[in-house]
Formats: sequence, structure tokens, C-alpha cells
Amino acid sequence: MNENTLESVQQCLNQFDVTEEQLQQIQAGILGDMERALGRQAGSSPSVQMLPTYVRSTPRGTEQGDFLVLELGASGATLRVLWVTLTGISGPRKEPVSQEFTIPTEITLGTGQQLFDFAAGCLVQFLDQLQVGSQPIQLGFNFSFPCHQTGLNQSTLISWTKGFRCSGVEGQDVVQLLREAIQRQGAYNIEVVAVVNDTVGAMMSCDPSPQACEVGLVVDTGTNACYMEEVRHVAELKEDRGRICVNVQWGSFGDGGALEPVQTPFDLQLDQESLHPGTQRFEKMVGGLYLGELVRLVLIHLAGQGALFGGVTSPALLTHGSVHVQHVMEIEDPSHGRARAQAMLQELGLTPSAQDCAQVQRVCGAVSSRAARLCAAALTAVLARVRSNPERSPLGVSVATGGRLYKQHPRFSALLQQTVRLLAPDADVTFVPSEDGGGRGVAVVTAVASRLALQRRQLEETLAPFRLHSQQLKAVQAQMRESMVRGLRGESSSIRMLPTYVCAMPDGTERGDFLALDLGGTNFRVLWVKVGSRSEEGIKIINRVFSLPESVTQGTGQQLFDHIVDCIVDFQKENNLSGQTLPLSFTFSFPCKQLGLDQGILLNWTKGFKASDCEGQDVVSLLRAAIRRRQGVELNVVAIVNDTVGTMMSCGYEDPHCEVGLIVGTGTNACYMEELGNVCAVPGDRGRMCINMEWGAFGDDGLALQEFYTPFDLSVDQASINPGKQRCRAREGGARRAGREDSDRRGWARGTSGCGWVGRGADGEGRAEAVANLGCPSYSLSARARYEKLISGMYLGEIVRQVLLHLTHLRVLFGGQEFPSLQTKDIIKTKFLSEIESDLERWQVRAILEKLDLQADCEDALLVREVCQAVSRRAAQLCGAGVAAVVEKIRENRGLDRLSVTVGVDGTLYKLHPHFSEQVKDAVRELAPQCCVRFLLSEDGSGKGAALVSAVACRLAGAAGP
Ligand code: G6P
Ligand code: BGC
Ligand code: BGC
Repeated sequence: MNENTLESVQQCLNQFDVTEEQLQQIQAGILGDMERALGRQAGSSPSVQMLPTYVRSTPRGTEQGDFLVLELGASGATLRVLWVTLTGISGPRKEPVSQEFTIPTEITLGTGQQLFDFAAGCLVQFLDQLQVGSQPIQLGFNFSFPCHQTGLNQSTLISWTKGFRCSGVEGQDVVQLLREAIQRQGAYNIEVVAVVNDTVGAMMSCDPSPQACEVGLVVDTGTNACYMEEVRHVAELKEDRGRICVNVQWGSFGDGGALEPVQTPFDLQLDQESLHPGTQRFEKMVGGLYLGELVRLVLIHLAGQGALFGGVTSPALLTHGSVHVQHVMEIEDPSHGRARAQAMLQELGLTPSAQDCAQVQRVCGAVSSRAARLCAAALTAVLARVRSNPERSPLGVSVATGGRLYKQHPRFSALLQQTVRLLAPDADVTFVPSEDGGGRGVAVVTAVASRLALQRRQLEETLAPFRLHSQQLKAVQAQMRESMVRGLRGESSSIRMLPTYVCAMPDGTERGDFLALDLGGTNFRVLWVKVGSRSEEGIKIINRVFSLPESVTQGTGQQLFDHIVDCIVDFQKENNLSGQTLPLSFTFSFPCKQLGLDQGILLNWTKGFKASDCEGQDVVSLLRAAIRRRQGVELNVVAIVNDTVGTMMSCGYEDPHCEVGLIVGTGTNACYMEELGNVCAVPGDRGRMCINMEWGAFGDDGLALQEFYTPFDLSVDQASINPGKQRCRAREGGARRAGREDSDRRGWARGTSGCGWVGRGADGEGRAEAVANLGCPSYSLSARARYEKLISGMYLGEIVRQVLLHLTHLRVLFGGQEFPSLQTKDIIKTKFLSEIESDLERWQVRAILEKLDLQADCEDALLVREVCQAVSRRAAQLCGAGVAAVVEKIRENRGLDRLSVTVGVDGTLYKLHPHFSEQVKDAVRELAPQCCVRFLLSEDGSGKGAALVSAVACRLAGAAGP
């Protein structure tokens, strides 16, 4: 061989030299692309993909169990199946059993179905030999192609790389395709639990001691790396704490042109002739699939120049794919390489001289050295990111390495490590070979995924009773309807259907100044309501919220009513109203048996109230007695009004179609305009009267809702201040049978002549009798099903808390850690549900939990949100079933095919929760299709409506004359 020949070879191979400066540029280029891809910066198009893998921690060493692993795509056309047994920290290590299958080219280039059927067939063949029986098998799928994962077992193939191009797979979930193929085989009970990239398998297969590997590097037919990144840097995930493994997909680096300075004409030709031209430019300079081909192209070039083989080529040398990476590795072997070169060249039909063999060795060395050095540059980019992580191990960084080129090439790993030291001299890097070719790591991820899947099943089982279907809601609607009718007839019913003596809506001609009290919701208010002409002044309100300490709401009745009067007096002073005796309306949001507009016997406290000596008393009398005690104060109590009625009146002022009032706040209830003829407790059959349903007690008779009560609801009930209620409690010795009750009710109403106006009420004699008789149908004392406790804000937080306690106990939440704050009753307020269910990022949800001293990770945060959603959705649907029963009753009362009606609504849960109102509306639409229902939010609370009740009474009284 002459000097010229050597010179030609050298010149050609010089093109494969990459200077240190060029390597540094590549390192910086990859790092920049990685950062841009992580940050999803607008307008930038990084060529690496940075795909989150949903692997959130390196192995703990505690994982146990038997797992089936399927490897597809890492080692060219070879598919591997493994049976891996993880034995935890203390168990003896077990070697995996594995088998390799060669995938025929017609399959790697065929249809997706053929490929997955082939893979499933290999699984069956492997398992048949292993004789595993019919046990359920958990499979981890090592799929070494760029995929967009949305979870540990959902992974959409972005694009094929390397030697694969099966149709109908890009854009599809490969886990699903594998599942379907396994089902088609029908032989084994295999569940595909996790899908991982080969780099992740490598990283996860390393022993966690002395330090966990945080980087996985693969150089096989393709090349790639993954590493543990701080999740707050992964813009796509919108999380703020913890780490996640990111699949860099560095094979595509340079697809935008960044590698041009180091590319040779051979690289360009190789790319053009490859299966996926224009893509994976970096991989095509590094991956084993391409090194043999690059060598082949160089040999053809040098033969063409006369520098090799006496200027002669052979058909085999000219054939694409005839030189493999295996050849390259063997030819570079220091002891037998020369002989291997000769053998290979002869197999290619050439007659090489000894010098030819030596030059071919040089060619192989140049191509693989460049590959190792480029790969090192990419790895230092990853190391730079890992080292910027403040939580990284103080012992330096461990890199798990895998892939045949890295492991089997005689010089590749050494050269790579040497170049890493050159480019990142202060990085303390340890290279750790991955075990079982990454199969163990796949099994570890599968173990984690199966634990998570078990937790998901436990969550689903826990929440299943909260998820109601249409038939169940229809049944609730029908039962509600039945209870309404029985209540109206005075028969035994958990819904009391209390007459309110409100029979007319405001018509806009009402005028005057009124005082109003509003007691029973979140706030206690005193209001001064000025009703002017609707078209000009409208209604003006001055109000003040007063605090009601628990010592007052749960003390004695006298303390409660004295406090109320004190507040009114303060309010009057502040507003220069002292000395004026304005008509006063009292919104009192508790079940009262009204005997007229200004007399209401408290049947029982609900929600957070428990003041003594009030139940069974006329609330207006209690207020008047407190006024007398205060001395020097004159107040004229005109009306007592339930908040539902106040809300209906207030919305009725805006919309004359408003004939229903609904409250979903601390408590829940509804009222509506019923045909007087249907109200047995009030004589007369002309006109309509507003009925306060007191639907919170629905189901207390044990005839409805029983099936919906979960153990969590029962715990909430038990811990409430009124367990077993809302129930109509019979007075001592006074429980009567329904029939008797009915005649009693009729008794007090005797003498009233229908209802053409607001609130004339019963005569004195009737009232006295009614006060004496608060007999209600007597229900079984074990009755526990209460509508209000399933729906209203006062209880939902508690139900959620009970569910969270249960899930913690199951270790589904908070890693099983029982936080003391979660043991605290009422720590979860309705506001919490509203916040957590609004459109927040995971970290924001976590921050809300932290305010309650619940240390949650992002997964916990999502689970808590799911619990809240299930609980509040059930509440909204049950409430919707109630509204549907009401509007359908109104429609049928009027014999209409279609009813248009407005529901006036108030209450913190309905107003503040992000989805509650829509879910109520959805349920109503479905359950009452013949009714067109408008929901109108009440703006100023029920106090305004209560004042309007008085205003209408005054108007009508004025019209009736003195
Ligand atoms: C209205 C009323 C209150 C009523 C409340 C329900 O606006 O003025 O008397 O009880 O809404 O809401 P809450 O969510 O406070 O229980
Ligand atoms: C794939 C990567 C894979 C690498 C090594 C590449 O072609 O895109 O996902 O990790 O090969 O097998
Ligand atoms: C009361 C109702 C009230 C509702 C909404 C229930 O607890 O019994 O009278 O309308 O809460 O405030």
C-alpha cells in the first residue's frame, strides 16, 4: 500500500474527527434544547423531546413479586421476554428467566396488528414453557420508541425510529394495542400494568445502594438517555414539587440542522437511504443500527478511490445493511480484530490484503470513536441538568448504562467515559451497568404501577356508592313526590310540607321601610329594607352582619333571643332608626309550623343550632319576650319567613315566573306555590299557597334514601349535633298516629277562609290548640337517612373527611400517614370543596391541603380532589332529583304539557361551588324533561324577600281597607 493510499484513507477519516470545541458546542446545543423543551417556550422548536415518564422515584429496593417483561425495540429486530422475580430488600436475588425471539422483517415493516400479534404470540410461547398456570400475570412493557405518556400505563407512539415502520401504530396507545393482541391470543390472564422506555428500565434496574442511579443511558441499535428532573421544571405537568424521570429522546438532536458542522457526506447518504430520512440525525451518528452502514459507505468510497481492495467492490458490499455493528465490534477487537476483518470482507465477496484489513479496522475505529465522543457530549448535557438539581445526591451522579454497543464494544465505554471526564472535569460520575439488560428495572416500575393500580381500585370501590345513575335518581324523585303528596294530605311523611301563609307574590306596587332579621345561614344579619317603586328607586338595603358565637347558638333560648334584640338595637342606633317602629320581618331558617304570618312554632333545630327551650315554642313570641326584657324598645314583628320563602319572594320581585325557592347552603330546603286545594292543613280550594317543604328531613321515615347512605354518611350523622335528624320529633307523650294528626291539623285551621292574601292565619283558638299539639308522625328512631346531610354544605366537608380517613387507613392516601388535623371535626369547610374543585393546578390543590396541615404530594392532591368531586356531585344530583319532583308536581297540578318556571336560589354551596349549580341543572333537565326551569340567583339574601312578604301583606291589607 503506498503513501497516497494511506493519505486518502486518512483524509477520508479526518471527516469523522470531532474537536473538543465542537463537542462542547454539541453539549451546549443539547442542553439548550433540553431546557427549551422542558419549558415549552413559545416559538422555540427544540429537537429533543423531553418526555415525562411518570416514574417519580428511583427504586427503593422494597419492590416484590413476579413480573412478566416484554422488550420491544431496544435491540433491533430482537424481541425479549423475561420472567423477573423481585424479592425485596432481604430476599435472595433470583436470576430472571428470559427468551429472545427474532422479529421477521415483514413484521417490522408490516401492520401494527401483525407486530402486536407476534409479540403476544411470543409471550404465550414463553409462558407455555414456564408453566405458570392461570394466575393473573402483571406485565411491564419495555417499548423503546418515542412515546407521549399520560400515565404509567398509557403511552402514545409519536413516531417509529430505527428499523421499525409498522402501519397504524403512530398516534395510538401502544399499551392498548398490546392488550388487544393479548386478548386475541386469549391464553393467559395478563394485565399490561406499565410501559417504559429502555433508558428508564436501565435506570430503574440499578441497585439503590450506595446511591441510586439518576440517569439511564442506552447505546444499542438506537441511543437515548433519561434522568430524574425536578418536576417544577417540566412545564407540561404544572406541578411544583418532587421529581420525575424524563426521557430525553436525544436521538433526534440535530434534526433542525445543529449537527451540520460535524456531519460527513456519508451521514447524509445514510440518512437519505434510511427508513426515516431527515429524522434522528444524532442517533444515526451514534446508534448501533447505523455504525455498520457508515463503515460500509466509507469502504465503498475508499474502494472507488482505489484506496482499498484494489479499487474493486462486490455486490454484497454494495448491498444496504450488509455490514453490521456486530462486525464493527469484532473488527475492533484488539486481539482478533484483524482476522475478523478479513473474514467479514471475504464473506462480502472481497479479496482483502493485510493492509486492507488494517485500513478497515481504522475505518471502524473512526466511526465508533466519533459515536462514543458524541454520546459523551450528550451525556454531559444531561449531567449538567442533574447537577443543577439542589436535591441531588452529595456522592456525585450514578449513570446506569445499557445497550449492546455500550456493553460489548471493546472501546466504546472507555472512550465515552474519558470524553465525559474531558468535557465535565469536575463531575463526579460513576457508571453502573444495568442488570438483566434493564428487565429488572421494568419489573420495578411494574411493581410500583401495580401498587398504584391497586390503590386506584380501592379508591374506585370507595367512591362507587357516591356515583349515582339515572335510575337511582328517578327513584329518589318518585319517592320525593310521594312524600310530598303524603305530607300535603297530612299523612305520615318525612317531608312536612308546612303552609307559610304566603299566597301572593310582589307586584311592584309595594312601598315602605321595613326592618328584617336573617337568622340561620352562615351569617346573622339585621337589615333596613326600603321598598320604592320598581321602575325608579327599586329596593335599597342597608345591612350589617353580626357574629353569633357558638355559646349563643348552642346556649339557652333566652340568651339567643336577647342577643338578637341587642343586635337590632345596635343596628337601629347606627342608622338613626331608634324610636321608629318599622314593620319587622324575621327570616328564620329552621322548620316552623306556622299558624299565620306572624306565628311559627319551632319544630326542631337543624344545622349548627341547639339553643335550649326553643323547640315547641312560637319563635315570634320568644322574640317579643326578649324585646320586652330589653325595655324601652318597640318593635313590630309582622312576619316570620323561612329562607326559602324569602328567596322565592326576592327573586319573584325580579321575575314573576319565580314560584320555587331553593336553598343549598349550610342546610338545604325548598318551597313552592302549591294549589290550596291540595293543602289539607288549610281549608279552601281557591288560589295557591307557598309551602315550605322542609325537605332536609326527607327519608327520615326510613322509606327513602336508605340505599344511598354510605358508612361515611352514617359516621357524619353520628358525630353531628343532631344525630338521627332531621327528624320530626314527637313531643313527649305526644306522638300520634297519622290519622289523628291529620284531624288535629285541620282543627287549628278551622275558621280560616281560604287564602286570597298573605298571612291572615288561623284564629286564636286554633292557634292555641296547634301550639299544644306539635305531634308529628312518629318514625322509627333508628331512621338515619337524611337528605340534608347528603346535600348541604354543613355536612359535605365532613363526609369528605370521613372518606379521606378511610383512604388513609387503606394507605391509598398520604402514604398511610394519619395526620392529626384530619382527625379534627369540621376542619374541611364547604369553601374547601369549592376551592379544590375549581380549575387549579395540582400544586395549588396541594397548597390548599397544606393549609389544613395535610402534607400531600401531587398524586394525593388529585385523589383528594376526586373524593370531593364524588361527594359534591352526588349532593348536586340528589338535590336536582328533589327540584325535578317539585317542578313536575307544579306542572301536573296545572295540567300542563310543558311548564316554564323559575327557581329562586340562594346558599353558599350553590353559589360558590364551581360545578354544583350546573350539575343540579343537568339532573333537572334529565329528570323533568317537560319543564323548562330557569335558576335565578337571589342577590341580597332572604332578608330582602322577608321584607317583601311584609310589604305584600301591607299592600294587601291596605287594599282590603282598614
Ligand atoms: C340566604 C339567607 C340566609 C340563608 C342562606 C343560606 O341568603 O339570607 O338566611 O339561610 O341564604 O345560605 P348559607 O349558605 O349561608 O347557609
Ligand atoms: C428511541 C428511544 C430509545 C433508543 C434506544 C431510539 O430510537 O427513540 O426511545 O430509548 O432508541 O433504544
Ligand atoms: C332548615 C330549613 C332551611 C334550610 C336552609 C334547614 O336545616 O330546616 O328550614 O330552609 O336549612 O337554610
